[in-house]
Amino acid sequence: MQKPCYILGIESSCDDTAAAILENDTVLSNIVAKQEIHTEYGGVVPELASRAHQINIIPVVEMALKKAGIEKKELNAIAYTRGPGLLGSLLVGSSFAKSLSMGLKIPLIEVNHMHGHILCHFIDESQNKPEFPFLGITVSGGHTQIVMVEDYFTMHEIGRTLDDAIGEAFDKCGKAMGFNYPAGPIIDKYSKNGNPKKFKFPIPKVKGLDFSFSGFKTAVLNFINKNINLDENFIKNNVEDLCASIQFTLIEILMQKINLAVRKTGITQIAVGGGVAANSELRKRIIDEGRRDDWKTYIPKINYTTDNAAMIAIVGYLKYKNSHLGNLRQKALSNYKI
Ligand code: KG4
Ligand code: ZN
Repeated sequence: MQKPCYILGIESSCDDTAAAILENDTVLSNIVAKQEIHTEYGGVVPELASRAHQINIIPVVEMALKKAGIEKKELNAIAYTRGPGLLGSLLVGSSFAKSLSMGLKIPLIEVNHMHGHILCHFIDESQNKPEFPFLGITVSGGHTQIVMVEDYFTMHEIGRTLDDAIGEAFDKCGKAMGFNYPAGPIIDKYSKNGNPKKFKFPIPKVKGLDFSFSGFKTAVLNFINKNINLDENFIKNNVEDLCASIQFTLIEILMQKINLAVRKTGITQIAVGGGVAANSELRKRIIDEGRRDDWKTYIPKINYTTDNAAMIAIVGYLKYKNSHLGNLRQKALSNYKI
């Protein structure tokens, strides 16, 4: 029997400090420390994020090892997020990963965070995994991307946002309604009892497979401000319909582009990922439209949608198997193309 391979994954690109242990492609532990400190600011404050990572990183890694029931010396390699993300945050995770790999004398593997969101589908929990080529749709607080995935390590971005990310649009519209950060899950919850057709917001006209959400966001903010001037209880009295209408429009924008990407590429394997892939309405729409149009759709478990280290560790495992090892000289990159 083949000896098991243990990979420690470390993720610290934004406001979650995360560590995971994989035995081959199976998750033994997946620990995420969320940073509550940003909630009241309506978004992530970079300096506060790096400080919180420094406090959290050691306990999070220790907890991941403990939960997995393995010791540091059993690890075969360490995979960490090199970028893209907030530089200060990335530096905490990458410096820690480098020091530990030096101390343990084991390989270090650098991982592009966006590869993590796309390749999380290869964690050995879903029975069916995407077949190459597939379309990787990453929808998060920092990114909105359509990627043609030819194999584990060959990917081409074919569409992206020209301004805000879709998760940012959820968060900023939520902030205008008085919600804490991140507002996406709160909008998702209120939408369940709302009428998605009550308020009509514009669908931006952007050429090809690119996206734009900033005009939409401004339209929502202006609409809310105008109505608050007329009725100070406007949000309170309409919160469910407002949320449902905002959510409906954001998902409509995304689905129109996914449909166009399928028509343009002829690829009908669709794998979504990123924090917004936790949205219940998006999950439903992808499945429904997939059934209607004969796509094969792949939606990760909720734990692997928002930022996590299991997705970094699975890329680490795939790279380790293919001898794509990194080195100590590789610097953290706030911009890191896919
Ligand atoms: O992937 P992620 O954890 O971090 C980034 O790399 O950005 O994504 C976070 C984003 C936030 O904008 C958050 O509001 C959004 O994902 N999000 C959701 C839901 N859960 C998280 N948006 C809509 N509905 C949800 N259920
Ligand atoms: Zn992410």
